[in-house]
Amino acid sequence: MDWGIQNRLNRLIQKDGKALFLPIDHGYFQGPTRKLEKPGETIKPLVPYADAVMMTRGVLRNCVDPSIEKPIILRVSGGNSVVGDDLSNEEQMTSITEILRLNASAVSMSIYVGGKYEHQTLKSFSRLVDQCEDYGIPTMAVTAVGRELEKRTARYLGLCSRIAAELGARVVKTYYCEEDFAKVVDGCPVPVVIAGGPKVDTALEVFEFVYDGMQCGAIGVNLGRNIWQHQYPVAVMRGIRGIIHENLTAKEAQQLFEEVKSGKA
Ligand code: R5P
Repeated sequence: MDWGIQNRLNRLIQKDGKALFLPIDHGYFQGPTRKLEKPGETIKPLVPYADAVMMTRGVLRNCVDPSIEKPIILRVSGGNSVVGDDLSNEEQMTSITEILRLNASAVSMSIYVGGKYEHQTLKSFSRLVDQCEDYGIPTMAVTAVGRELEKRTARYLGLCSRIAAELGARVVKTYYCEEDFAKVVDGCPVPVVIAGGPKVDTALEVFEFVYDGMQCGAIGVNLGRNIWQHQYPVAVMRGIRGIIHENLTAKEAQQLFEEVKSGKA
């Protein structure tokens, strides 16, 4: 692998082969998402526990201090919105020059397999891979489902993840599914990170699916709302970090969560 791309990947994926990415890119189609009204404030206490932070160029420029030491995964696709006609109508919106100018360590783009604009998103992703590989920048494909959350079965996620890897993704971000998630990971020749999806009820549920996903072979997470929409975001973040980098079980992560929450850790 070329030195530059390997170096950037090493900044994202830690020495233990695991990674905790913190996404705050939701506004690119959702607007001021709850708890992301001021993204710079939201992430301040969380950044120390993240291995990388994912966002758009607008939030990066306006809300994040350039002295940030964590690598940035730049969300470079868009063109859709929650009030628009079809969420899959997305393509590359940020040029390679801008990606370089902002010193991104990686870029991310959604692909919508089976969506109305499937071909457009796959083509756009392939072009992005070509541009980024020229400069040693890794691409992370996001296997997006739009509003159709029920699509998240192992068969479908395995299909999307494999297609993303075949098109050149260096990392694939996909959803976790309870049944056969190992098959999704096994069928994908590049590292898989788990996306969170809408907020679940308890921190323990998050710890359980993160733990199970890691046991199935995921290298980590790219998890947003279940962290920063929680009442105790730092405690959730530290529990997840414990599972990813310290081999904690879900139960142990819950204990750590309680300790952080009560100021004991
Ligand atoms: C979608 O808005 C983005 O790709 C998010 O980065 C992704 O969905 C992960 O965030 P969450 O855990 O909130 O689903």
